[in-house]
Amino acid sequence: MKISVLLLGFGNVGREFCSLLERKGDKIFSEYGCTIQIKGISTQRRGNLYSEEGLHMPSVFRAEEETGRIDCLRSNGLYISPTLEDLLNNGDYHILVDTTFSSLETGEPARTYMEKALSRGKSVVTCNKSPVFLWYHSLSSLARERGAKFLFEGTVMCGTPLFSLFRHGLPATEVLSFEGVLNGTCNYILELMRQGSTLDDALLDAQRRGYAEPDPSVDIDGWDSAYKAMIVAQAIMGAPRLTKDMIEVRGIREVTPEMLNMTRIKGGVVRLLSKIERKQNSFKIEVAPTALPANHPLVTLYGVTNGAVLCTDTMGEICIEGAGAGSRFAAFALLQDVLSIANSMRR
Ligand SMILES: NC(=O)c1ccc[n+]([C@@H]2O[C@H](COP(=O)([O-])OP(=O)(O)OC[C@H]3O[C@@H](n4cnc5c(N)ncnc54)[C@H](OP(=O)(O)O)[C@@H]3O)[C@@H](O)[C@H]2O)c1
Repeated sequence: MKISVLLLGFGNVGREFCSLLERKGDKIFSEYGCTIQIKGISTQRRGNLYSEEGLHMPSVFRAEEETGRIDCLRSNGLYISPTLEDLLNNGDYHILVDTTFSSLETGEPARTYMEKALSRGKSVVTCNKSPVFLWYHSLSSLARERGAKFLFEGTVMCGTPLFSLFRHGLPATEVLSFEGVLNGTCNYILELMRQGSTLDDALLDAQRRGYAEPDPSVDIDGWDSAYKAMIVAQAIMGAPRLTKDMIEVRGIREVTPEMLNMTRIKGGVVRLLSKIERKQNSFKIEVAPTALPANHPLVTLYGVTNGAVLCTDTMGEICIEGAGAGSRFAAFALLQDVLSIANSMRR
C-alpha cells in the first residue's frame, strides 16, 4: 500500500521528515507493509511542487540546495507547480502533514488549510502548536465527522510519545492530573542559573546553541508551556475548549538566586512546571517556576529534556521523559502519527 503525503513547509522539520522517510523506508515497509510517499510540497516563498507519481526526494533536495527553491524541478515535465489553494482543493493524497508556523492568536493560516483537508476526508498531522491549542475541539470533531484523523504528537514533548502512549497504551483511562516540564529552553536556562549564571547570560547561551528564539519571551514568560498544557488538557483530560485567560501563567523571570539556593540546599531543583488538575468537570491549569523536592520524579531532568507525570485511574502514576526540542525529534513525531494513520487504513 502507498500512503501519500502533502507536506506543508520544507524548513528544518519538513526536511528532516523527508530525510527520515528516505532513511527508514525499508524498515517501514517491512514493519507496516506500506510506503510513505511525498506527493506534494508547499512552501511560503520557495515554491510548490506536486507529482501524481510521488516526488523523487533526492532530486528535490539537490534542486533546493542548488537554487534555494523547490519549484525549479517542474521543468522536467513530471512535476507541476500548482498553487497551495489548488493543492488543497484538488490534490490527490491521504495525509496533510503540516510543518509551518501559525499565528499564536488565531492559528492561521494552518487552521484553514487543515479544515480544507479534513473536509475532504484527508487526515491531518501537525507539529504546529497554535491550531491545536486554539482549535483542538473543532478540528477533531471535523476529523471524526469525515472519517479522518487529526494527530499532533510533535506539538508537546516533541517526539517523546505522550499522546500515542495515551491513545494506545492507556485504554479506557482517565488522566486525573498532569505535571510537566514542557519547555526545554527554560529547563536549560534554569540549570545554568542553578550553576550561577544570570538569566541574561543563560538566555544568551541558549540562543547561541539555537535552543531559544531571537524573541524568547514566549518561552521565558511561560506561554509556550501554557499552550502545551492547553493541548494536553483538551486532548487527553477531557477539558472543554480552553482560552488563554483561563490559565495562570508565570514565567522564569521571577526566579531569584535565593530561590535557587534554598531549593538546592534541600536537594531539589527549580523547574518551570505546567500543572493540570481536574476536579469533576472543572480544570485548573497553572504554569509557574516551582521548587521540586529531591524525590519528585521530574527532578532529574537536565538540559532541554522534557518530562511529564500523569496520574491515572488505571495505572496510578506514570512518568515519561525524553527529547523536548529539535527538528529531528519533531520529524519523528510526525512519522509516529503518519504510521498510526497508515495502520488504521490497513484495517
Ligand atoms: N524546529 C524544531 O525543533 C521544532 C520542534 C517541534 C515543533 N516545531 C514546530 O514545527 C514547525 C516548523 O518548524 P521549523 O523549525 O521547521 O520552521 P522553519 O524552518 O521556519 O520552516 C517552516 C516552513 O514552513 C513554510 N511555511 C510557512 N508559512 C507557510 C504557509 N503559509 N504556507 C506554506 N508553507 C509555509 C516555510 O516556507 P519558506 O521555506 O518559504 O520559508 C518553511 O518551509 C513550527 O510550527 C514549530 O513550532 C519545531
